Amino acid sequence: MRKKIIIGNWKMNGRKVMASKLCTTIANEMQSLGNIDVALCPPFTLLEEVRQMIAGSACSLGAQDLDMHDDGAYTGQVSAGMLKDSGCEWVIIGHSERRALFGETSHSVSKKTKQALENDLKPIICVGETEDERKAGQEASVVQGQLQSVIDEIGVGSVKNITIAYEPVWAIGTGLTATPEQAQAMHSFIREQLGSRHHETAKTCRILYGGSMKESNAGNLLGCPDIDGGLIGSASLNAEEFLGICRSA
Ligand code: 13P
Repeated sequence: MRKKIIIGNWKMNGRKVMASKLCTTIANEMQSLGNIDVALCPPFTLLEEVRQMIAGSACSLGAQDLDMHDDGAYTGQVSAGMLKDSGCEWVIIGHSERRALFGETSHSVSKKTKQALENDLKPIICVGETEDERKAGQEASVVQGQLQSVIDEIGVGSVKNITIAYEPVWAIGTGLTATPEQAQAMHSFIREQLGSRHHETAKTCRILYGGSMKESNAGNLLGCPDIDGGLIGSASLNAEEFLGICRSA
């Protein structure tokens, strides 16, 4: 059985006061959520604030990106070692906003994944097709290509240490959600791809859905056999919505 996991991706949102209120509410409710994993990925500036607020609870901390290099002359960047030092357990890699707006490529996603693993961070690898790609019937080949380059870089033996997030680009921040059937079909396809490389890994690897998941649709999505959790954007900025999703898991 794969344990469900709900991860909040705050994106470029949040100030200390907001973070403190949100995290206090979530940390206080953690015990009532049952046997699920929960993690919060605030912007870099709030990692320490959030770390303090969730300390002692079962909620864990993650970042939204990292650099592919070790420490050094890379102005403005943040290394895997720095994230580890800041108390992070998780790091999101290859989010579609980074791919579309900041030049993230399959090459950099693969290198960052390796860097995260070498520094004992748990990478959450985002994959997903655009609306045009889905209209053209290319969603499977796009996702397959995104996954392939990561597996080629880290080796099939390390796939057990990654989490995959399927985030159809057309569903992110749009209010449009993949139907449970669409999401399940892609999750099952991803698991098949992993299974063709390594049967056991495919059974244990957690594959999350992301894209306008909220309390009202979480139950149906999380009820699908191959959906092992959610990567939550805007709904993670509201404690009640986020906790509602966690309770549906
Ligand atoms: P929304 O939940 O705001 O659609 O964002 C999803 C997402 O991008 C999570 O990484």
